[in-house]
Amino acid sequence: MKKLIAANWKMNGKSDWADKPAELNSVLDGKIPDSAQVLICPPSVYLTQIADNAHKYGMNAGAQNCHSEDSGAFTGEISAQMASDCHADYVICGHSERRAMFGDSDAVVKAKAQSVIQSAMVAIICVGETLEQRESGAANSTVEAQLRASIPEASTALNTVIAYEPVWAIGTGKTATLDDIEQMHAHIRSVYGEMFGKRSAKGLCIQYGGSVKPANAKDILSVDGVNGALVGGASLNMEDFAKIIQAA
Ligand code: PGA
Repeated sequence: MKKLIAANWKMNGKSDWADKPAELNSVLDGKIPDSAQVLICPPSVYLTQIADNAHKYGMNAGAQNCHSEDSGAFTGEISAQMASDCHADYVICGHSERRAMFGDSDAVVKAKAQSVIQSAMVAIICVGETLEQRESGAANSTVEAQLRASIPEASTALNTVIAYEPVWAIGTGKTATLDDIEQMHAHIRSVYGEMFGKRSAKGLCIQYGGSVKPANAKDILSVDGVNGALVGGASLNMEDFAKIIQAA
């Protein structure tokens, strides 16, 4: 399986960032390593331009969030169908910032992911424990509960990616130990296997996210069971992001 290296730009960028796929391509000397698949998730207002430019260079594009309904009176929201209409291939669902700041419960995340899958895109479903949960020994049970309640029944290894992002590692410069990452990815694969069968679990892409940088990308991406990275801060600089892609 190729390593899925995804840029989550969060609420950063402006319209001239439409050139970023071209810039990234030139930093990569026109060559994405065979072992890597590149995904850029810009703010939705820039999605069409970024997606069209990303596709020119063999990269994918995605939205950072969507609503679970197709249309209606939901001021300020965009639907999965709209993201697809803007040429997105993926949608991130249930990022911890959405869960913590915008009330995305497991049930909401599940409904959003369902809508993404129905719109023929891939749902990247984010899970992860807080520091308090890890320190009290509840990391595994927290992540397991999130998986069981956030993954829709229609999930397969083709339409779903799981991103394991310990909340305390996001934007903090702290990363989980390689042992902890390996253990949690195995746990996630095993829970997914119980839900959808071992064969699906084997083919499931599980990304790690949380302070992935050029300096630690190679170690993290070499961990058994890590099939990619969801990158925030370091994805805003194409030199740094390219180094992470090359680490794959
Ligand atoms: P970070 O963010 O790389 O800045 O820690 C990761 C994420 O939130 O997806």
